[in-house]
Amino acid sequence: MAVEVAPAPGMRHTGDMPPILQVQSIDAAYGKVQILHGVSLDVYPGEVVSIIGPNGAGKSTVLKAIMGFLTPSAGEIIFDGGTITGLRTDLVVRRGIAYVPQGRIVFKDMSVVENLEMGAYAVSDKAQVRRTMEQVFQIFPRLGERPKQAAGTMSGGEQQMLAMGRALMVEPRVVLMDEPSLGLAPRFVELVFEKIGELKAGGMTLLLVEQNAVKSLSISDRGYVLELGRNRFTGPGDALLADERVRRLYLGG
Ligand SMILES: Nc1ncnc2c1ncn2[C@@H]1O[C@H](COP(=O)(O)OP(=O)(O)OP(=O)(O)O)[C@@H](O)[C@H]1O
Ligand SMILES: [Mg+2]
Repeated sequence: MAVEVAPAPGMRHTGDMPPILQVQSIDAAYGKVQILHGVSLDVYPGEVVSIIGPNGAGKSTVLKAIMGFLTPSAGEIIFDGGTITGLRTDLVVRRGIAYVPQGRIVFKDMSVVENLEMGAYAVSDKAQVRRTMEQVFQIFPRLGERPKQAAGTMSGGEQQMLAMGRALMVEPRVVLMDEPSLGLAPRFVELVFEKIGELKAGGMTLLLVEQNAVKSLSISDRGYVLELGRNRFTGPGDALLADERVRRLYLGG
């Protein structure tokens, strides 16, 4: 089981609210190769929670299991009080979980607006789609300034903003992001973390996988360190940042 580096902050941000998302002791495999071994995590409403750990630790696999891309062979995933274990991805999205995959995947030949509309393909109320898009433009003014630009011609950082904005088009309650800052120029790395902070300030709940562990723990309420598909350390973001073992093993110092 995970080592707690400091007393759990419990529900300090959320009054008496239960977790909105709970991963309970899941095992998961690709074919015959078991990757996750009893991984657990909780996300409370309004929190930013980070998953960090070495390459191959299973961080992305946890997000994929939540999204229904693979079905755990043991354990449960609970969202908003109900099980979503093994639920089809589109139904997971409908329940209120959005996913920003690694690699800022956008439809390159489509415009900004078309990309955002694709994000809302499941929303039939056009007026609602327009309203949500206006909100996305408020968070990401850069997108609102260039509605007709083909996504493929935007910079890497702008494409990442578009990928994040598209996830918001389903009006999710929780957003999962896999390595949103990976491979971006420094100023866009800053911007990505700034935007995550703004989303949190607006009441959004985020579960973040990041190789930029220091930055991501700095903006996180809590974090989980995974290693070899197992929980290793957990605690408040600042406590993990300050923990000697975590620093030495995972933060490069
Ligand atoms: N589709 C797949 N088929 C088979 N094995 C896979 C597949 N995807 C991932 N794996 C393996 O599962 C393990 C965990 O992968 P995962 O992508 O979850 O790690 P990660 O912690 O996200 O790593 P990284 O920091 O490199 O993104 C790795 O050993 C990887 O090779
Ligand atoms: Mg990964």
